[in-house]
Formats: sequence, structure tokens, C-alpha cells
Amino acid sequence: MKLKRLKLTNFRNYDDLDLSFNDGLTILTGENAQGKTNLLEAIFLLSMAKSHRTNIDKELIQWDSESAKIIGEVETKNYEFPLELQFQKKGKVARVNHLDQPKLSLFIGKLNVVLFAPEDLQIVKGSPSLRRKFIDAELAQSHPVYLQELLDYNRILKQRNKFLKDFGHQSNFDELYFEVLTDQLIEKAVSVIKYRQDFIKKLNDYAGEIHYELSNQRDKLTLSYDASSSKLNYDETDTLTEQFQALFKSSIDREKYQATTVYGPHRDDLSFYLNGKLASHFGSQGQQRTIVLSIKLAEIELLNELIGEYPILLLDDVLSELDDQRQHILMSQIEGKIQTFLTTATIEGLQLERLENASIFYIEAGQVTQE
Ligand SMILES: Nc1ncnc2c1ncn2[C@@H]1O[C@H](COP(=O)(O)OP(=O)(O)OP(=O)(O)O)[C@@H](O)[C@H]1O
Ligand SMILES: [Mg+2]
Repeated sequence: MKLKRLKLTNFRNYDDLDLSFNDGLTILTGENAQGKTNLLEAIFLLSMAKSHRTNIDKELIQWDSESAKIIGEVETKNYEFPLELQFQKKGKVARVNHLDQPKLSLFIGKLNVVLFAPEDLQIVKGSPSLRRKFIDAELAQSHPVYLQELLDYNRILKQRNKFLKDFGHQSNFDELYFEVLTDQLIEKAVSVIKYRQDFIKKLNDYAGEIHYELSNQRDKLTLSYDASSSKLNYDETDTLTEQFQALFKSSIDREKYQATTVYGPHRDDLSFYLNGKLASHFGSQGQQRTIVLSIKLAEIELLNELIGEYPILLLDDVLSELDDQRQHILMSQIEGKIQTFLTTATIEGLQLERLENASIFYIEAGQVTQE
């Protein structure tokens, strides 16, 4: 999959930008705060219809402007089509091949990207929500149905939480209505968990192999999807509905007391083990970095397996975080098969032999010139 051209209008610090790209490596360089990440963010938005940096779309609109627009020309194995996102203060419009999409889920995943940003280095050690976000982003791109199931789950969860908050302490608690909400929630929870479980198993296989090589055949990496309660057994997916029913039944008093839904995929987590030891506790910083690199490279291979072609890779300032050997492995994995956009404050320190065929763009205050 390739991005042939990108046009930005009043997006962040870009007034009016129109760039065409090669199939290989594109390097975006320039000083701090000039717009390098903004440009990657625009490409990411074309994939997910949502920024990786903010939940507030209004922030994407250039200060003092009314609306912002991103247009990308995408080329896949079989098609070439434009993707367009327009942000207004009231909302956003998403178009595929010039047609308005009534639901964002119809837009998301038309362009596939894997983003590797400095904040990803927190995936191993940071909060569980980071890890859930990572899983959800990849699944949403490759399985449109998953995204719809997740949105449904979140909607019902919100309703159920509100109900617990409003009526949990009341004597007129409507048990019957609460049961309906719980059954609806369980149905979506089971679906979300099955997708995630399957995804993590597949990712585990790729990541394990890659990590073994990256660590000079020292470390065996395994991923595990952890349920929100030890009473749930995710290996027995056939009985998940019954497991949840029993769990919710036994935790009703706690839920009423805490006025929130205590169990479910919104509280699940992902753990990384190196040679059987929990990496968030025992892994060194270098090992944790290697894990992140391994799962990013695994994501690329997995998306290729699921979609039938390689995604686009966005590397935001991460090369400098990796030592020479890991830089080398990363670049040799992607060379010649994956269109890559890479930002860096300086080109010095990058492995120069890789730069021969790269196109280099210099960015200064939202203006881009090709070197
Ligand atoms: N809505 C907006 N309108 C205008 N300018 C914006 C808007 N949002 C952000 N900016 C500008 O974009 C700049 C940040 O750009 P960006 O994050 O792309 O920098 P960068 O080149 O990646 O820098 P670094 O090397 O530090 O990561 C901010 O300093 C701000 O001036
Ligand atoms: Mg940046």
C-alpha cells in the first residue's frame, strides 16, 4: 500500500501543502516544532480518522481558520483512490473516492499504517490503557467489524455505568432493566475479547520470532492477554458468556457500591514476558525497547497477512532511540517492501548507506522543500 500524494489545507501549522512521495523511504527533517510530527499525524488521520495525539479534533484546525482538510492519494494492489477528511468546528466529514461516508467505521482502515512514536516506548511499562489502545488501533484497521463491536461495547458500558451511578444506591433499582443491559454488555464483551485474543495469539507468533533475532537469540518473548478477573478463563472462549454471567451475578454488590462496571474488556491488559519473566518488572530498558520494536515489526507482518499487502510505516523520531544494531535491523526489515516516512531533527547519525534512495524533505514553519 502506498501514499502517492498528500494535500493539507489549514491543518495544524500547514496553510497549503501539496507533496508527492516515492515508494521507498521519505525522510522529514527540520528543527523542533516546525511540523514534522504534524505531517505524520495527517497521514495517521487518513488511516484512523482520529489523531494519535489528541481526542479533540478542533486542535487540528489551524488557529484562526474555520476548517481543515487532508487529502491523500492512496494506491493499493488493485485500486487507486483519494481519501479525504474535512474538519469543521462542528464535526468531521470523511470521504472515500469523493463519496461521503455515513459512518467513520467505513473510512477507517482504507489506508493501513503502523506508527512508531516515542510514546510507544511506554507500551511495556506504562498504563494498561496504552496497551489496549495499541491492540484496538491495529484491530480497527484490519477488522471493520471489530471497531463496530468495540463502539457498541463502549456505548452500552457507558449506559450501564450511568445506571449504576444513578440507581445503584436506590431501593427502586430496576433489576430487570439492569439485567438487559448486562446481557447486552456481555454479548459485546465476548465478541471484543475473541477478536483481541485471536489477534494477540497471531502477534505473539510473529513478535516471538522477530524478538529472538533482535536479541541475538537470547530472549524468548511471549505475549499474553490478561482478563480483568482471575475468575475468567480466556482460553475457554466457548463458555465466556456463562463465565461473565456468573461473574456479574457475584459482583453486583461491589458494582453498586463502586457505581461502575468492574469487569470487562475495558479493564483487560496485555503482558510481555521474556524467558517467562514479566518484562515490565524484570526487563531492562534496552530489553523493553527491543520488545516495542519487535511488536511494531510484528504488526507490519500481521497486517500484511490479514490484508494481503504491507501497511505504510510512520517512524516519528524513534531511530535516535535505537542503537546502531537495532536501527540496522529495522531498516533492513522494511527496505524495498514498505513505504516509510521517518522524522528526525538531524540526518547525522542515521546509517547513511540507507539514505541513498531516500527522498529528503526539509520542514520549516509549515513550509516544505525537497533537498
Ligand atoms: N492548530 C494549530 N494551528 C497552528 N499551528 C499549530 C497548531 N497545532 C500545532 N501547531 C504548531 O505546530 C508545532 C508543532 O509541530 P510538530 O509537533 O509537528 O513539531 P516537530 O517538527 O515534530 O517538532 P519536534 O522535533 O520537537 O518533535 C507547534 O509548536 C505549534 O506551533
Ligand atoms: Mg515531533
